[in-house]
Amino acid sequence: MRLSYLVRFLTHMLYLTFFLGTVSCVSVSRQNMPEEGTAEIDLLEKKCTLCHGLPHPKRHTQEEWGYLLTLMKKRMDEKNISYTTEEMVQIKSYLQRNAR
Ligand code: HEC
Repeated sequence: MRLSYLVRFLTHMLYLTFFLGTVSCVSVSRQNMPEEGTAEIDLLEKKCTLCHGLPHPKRHTQEEWGYLLTLMKKRMDEKNISYTTEEMVQIKSYLQRNAR
């Protein structure tokens, strides 16, 4: 009796933590993107949120972005996600222009 009450309480806490975590992740990742409203951000949101949150340009230096975008291209190829050279050029240009 006592135990089942405790289990139910812990389950609720788990859901609550998950919910709050999700909400805060979404709002944090969507804060202060430079050049808000441009086509490049739309493309970044479309292509780069399929596996993780929206990456902020200030996360990395120009050099790191160069390396990371090649790696991400590989990750997308592995999953058969379409990602053209032209899209990569646009995303790369935006991220490097606004890099750390
Ligand atoms: C197919 C899934 C997938 C897509 C789509 C994808 N990524 Fe990733 N990304 C990953 C994985 C997996 C990692 C973890 C590192 C690794 O194993 O390569 C990662 C890691 C990263 C990191 C490094 C960690 C960090 O938080 O700084 C950045 C930055 C990043 N991705 C940016 C991007 C950008 C920009 C795009 C869009 C061009 C993109 N990702 C699209 C799967 C993906």
